Amino acid sequence: MEKISVKVCTGTTCFVMGGANLQELHDLIPRKYGDKVEVSGSPCLGLCSINWEYSKAPYVKVNEAVVNEATVEKVLAEIDKQIGNN
Ligand code: FES
Repeated sequence: MEKISVKVCTGTTCFVMGGANLQELHDLIPRKYGDKVEVSGSPCLGLCSINWEYSKAPYVKVNEAVVNEATVEKVLAEIDKQIGNN
């Protein structure tokens, strides 16, 4: 099975819109999934500027899936969904 790649946006928009709370994913994910899931920070993913007014930051990408208005729970749910599909 391919590793799942999680990219937590650390760009300014995402960070101020709640991305700061997502930093705990860097501890949680390795504890919960070991080396099945790789988590990294990413500079602006380019998603916040698509529609600034209705921006749904913070954004996290789980492989190709975009999680908007991301919370720790939403990101873990997306990882579980993708692991279940493999
Ligand atoms: S700052 Fe996160 S997508 Fe732009």
